[in-house]
Amino acid sequence: MKILFVTPELAPWSKAGGLGDATVALGKALAALGHEVRAVTPLYGSVPGREGMSTFIESLKVGVGGDPLKAACRVRTLTVAKGFNAWFIEHEDFYGSREVYPTREDAAERAAFYGRAGLDACLSTNWIPDIVHCHDWTAGLIPVLLNTTLKSSALGQSASVITIHNLQHQGLYPRRIMGYLGLPEFLWNPMELECLGGVNFLKGGILHANRVITVSPTYAQEILTPAFGYGLDDVVRRRSQDLIGILNGVDRDEWNPADDKHIAKSFSAKDSGGKSACKQALLRELNLATDRKLPVIGVVSRLWDQKGLDLALQVLPKYLRDGMIQFVLLGSGDAALENEFRRLAADFPELCAVRIGYDNGLSHRIEAGSDFFLMPSRFEPCGLNQMYSMAYGTLPVVRATGGLADTVSPWDGKQGGTGITFQHADVVGIDWAIQRALELYQQPESFKAVQKKAMEMEFSWSKAATAHVVSYKSALGG
Ligand code: ADP
Ligand code: GLC
Repeated sequence: MKILFVTPELAPWSKAGGLGDATVALGKALAALGHEVRAVTPLYGSVPGREGMSTFIESLKVGVGGDPLKAACRVRTLTVAKGFNAWFIEHEDFYGSREVYPTREDAAERAAFYGRAGLDACLSTNWIPDIVHCHDWTAGLIPVLLNTTLKSSALGQSASVITIHNLQHQGLYPRRIMGYLGLPEFLWNPMELECLGGVNFLKGGILHANRVITVSPTYAQEILTPAFGYGLDDVVRRRSQDLIGILNGVDRDEWNPADDKHIAKSFSAKDSGGKSACKQALLRELNLATDRKLPVIGVVSRLWDQKGLDLALQVLPKYLRDGMIQFVLLGSGDAALENEFRRLAADFPELCAVRIGYDNGLSHRIEAGSDFFLMPSRFEPCGLNQMYSMAYGTLPVVRATGGLADTVSPWDGKQGGTGITFQHADVVGIDWAIQRALELYQQPESFKAVQKKAMEMEFSWSKAATAHVVSYKSALGG
């Protein structure tokens, strides 16, 4: 099949969270199955290596309204893997800045432009995809375009699929975006795009894609309910027959402790000796005490309400005060949370280190050097870090929600399970889970057995790609 991804993130060129990892890994796995994959994505100011890209289309006229001078772009390309090319949309005005999701007056036009440019690139080069696979809200109006404005074009027979990586972010913008994209007026209607007085990008995608995918089976169930639906659960329920949860995987090219250029010493399930060297190296790197023999709890995360780390902040001081854990965090996001974590590190300089910012190398070293990895998420569509943790023998301590529930099996008090899970996203739940982790740590035999089981878990992108192909085929039939 010919498959076009429309995605705002493609790692390592752009990444705000797991979406960038997921789109690249899935594209590679689909290409490995013999499919032809192209991914259209913006060329943000922060994208590295543009010198090495070639020009695919020097000047592409894009079918959008507004200032005609702003309706053209250059398309650059590079090969991600055999059978998988990225198309980078170069448009200085929209994407010249470094951020992936800036707040700006023309945010809606900026979000919509690159996807429409991808469709125009297909039309102008006569590369007509069987499947247009849209990822998250910025791509949400693409299935709508295919069903309406572009129905009589060569793309009219392409089927569309949308993956909801996160239902919290929907893209709600003023009505003028419809005119910009040339969408028909009848779509301005609460059963269609209209939502709270604006146009909801993700709602459009959910309603118009031939199939709706989300990134774990449990999240696929959760988003049918008001508690997880972020106001769109009724819309998701309208598509429940066409909704499926397919679990993300671990990209072993990037996340493999036996072959990871970022970590101090390699190790594996068979020979985990190197892990203690990684722990010592991490403590040294972060200027923490190296002689305490305490369990290290790690976090790498966006600091966002989704992740529940505000709750963890209420629990951690007790354990640090009693000298029972060391804690390391790498993250950025909400300024208040950033400051709270900085303060925690200042209060416990030997036991707690906090790095605010984005640092891929350090994220690998935290995965490798920690004993436990904390994810107390309020909701988690899939979550990649708990799977990376398991691969690195770092036991996940997670709230049993979404993909966390689907990937971590709870320690049974003996030698069974792959981590610690707790039910409620509240202070009591996290406190209970940390106590449980300490209990496990104090039983070295059980800890080793659980660690080995975690490391042997296979979260395969190849399996995920095969499941996607089944969805693509049903989308083409539907
Ligand atoms: P989400 O997509 O909701 O943020 P995931 O667990 O799916 O959550 O993916 C998060 C990804 O982003 C992981 O690859 C993680 O290592 C990475 N990440 C998050 N914050 C940082 C950071 N500050 N520095 C480096 N990597 C980060
Ligand atoms: C989102 C979700 C996360 C998921 C990632 C990749 O950002 O928050 O749970 O793992 O997308 O699908």
